[in-house]
Amino acid sequence: MAKEPVRVLVTGAAGQIGYALVPMIARGVMLGADQPVILNMLDIPPAAEALNGVKMELVDAAFPLLKGVVATTDAVEACTGVNVAVMVGGFPRKEGMERKDVMSKNVSIYKSQASALEQHAAPNCKVLVVANPANTNALILKEFAPSIPAKNITCLTRLDHNRALGQISEKLNVQVSDVKNVIIWGNHSSTQYPDVNHATVMTPSGEKPVRELVKDDAWLNGEFITTVQQRGAAIIKARKLSSALSAASAACDHIRDWVLGTPEGTWVSMGVYSDGSYNAPAGVIYSFPVTCKNGEWTIVQGLAIDEFSRKKLDLTGVELTEEKELAYSCLS
Ligand code: NAD
Ligand code: LMR
Repeated sequence: MAKEPVRVLVTGAAGQIGYALVPMIARGVMLGADQPVILNMLDIPPAAEALNGVKMELVDAAFPLLKGVVATTDAVEACTGVNVAVMVGGFPRKEGMERKDVMSKNVSIYKSQASALEQHAAPNCKVLVVANPANTNALILKEFAPSIPAKNITCLTRLDHNRALGQISEKLNVQVSDVKNVIIWGNHSSTQYPDVNHATVMTPSGEKPVRELVKDDAWLNGEFITTVQQRGAAIIKARKLSSALSAASAACDHIRDWVLGTPEGTWVSMGVYSDGSYNAPAGVIYSFPVTCKNGEWTIVQGLAIDEFSRKKLDLTGVELTEEKELAYSCLS
């Protein structure tokens, strides 16, 4: 018997990530090749015509899994009955701008969209915030939608996780699919800590630690970390636009693993509401290693944290605490 369609909200759907993301969702990349979907696309009135153009293209693409498309500038209509909400709408960082510069514009959007989601989304709706500052936008959404369980509100650090996998695969000249269990700790910003201390590579003679194969701690503790931390800025410099296809692909990976589960023995990075695990600050959205099963994420516990890592986990935690304060000051 055919499955019931899942209704997926994409905010900012007329933007560049939206344009890359909606066809992926309609093709089953996010929820599976046998899962029909209905797309609810939201943007603001100046983008209404462009949004309608995206809707026309979705119709023209004749995606077999796509059972309906709503294109609207009304947040209530967009949020009604959604099972998955991918929050991309907002103002992106431009060349030379720090993420804090975009804070005040974006947190007020997330405060108002929190209410629309809380009142009109389907029960147990899963929320992924992509728009920057992603962790803090997600926190504001959580704070102003108190009836949505905190565990249902997450932010995207999977792009950073995938970037880390990509860097290791290039360094070792191995398939990216053979690298696993990197970790992104903390904020989706330049203070994030990409950690390879538990990462492995599948080789013809079995699974080997990344550190043993790379044999270059100076690179792993230096250039590797800064390359991943600065990759968003490097893409902006090269394209004059922030990353879009890789962000859309990572958003699909995030939701797919959350809904359908992570493979045995593999974890991924997700920004989730912190309970203070690993002495990260509680009460912020912090990126942790997680496994997912039956639609629920669980923070991987018990990983050893050395002194070098401890400092980096703390640094990004301090930034998130400061961002939280700044966000509240922008809202008051
Ligand atoms: P974009 O400017 O191309 O698109 C953003 C869209 O959001 C626009 O169409 C705009 O009209 C719309 N929008 C603005 N306010 C809105 C509102 N109140 N409601 C609904 N829609 C609204 O930007 P983009 O390149 O698609 O990037 C979107 C966001 O994602 C940015 O904040 C960017 O910094 C962020 N981003 C995050 C990651 C990540 O890994 N977390 C990666 C890349 C980009
Ligand atoms: C990215 O990581 O590509 C985006 O978050 C862009 C940015 O603002 O750094």
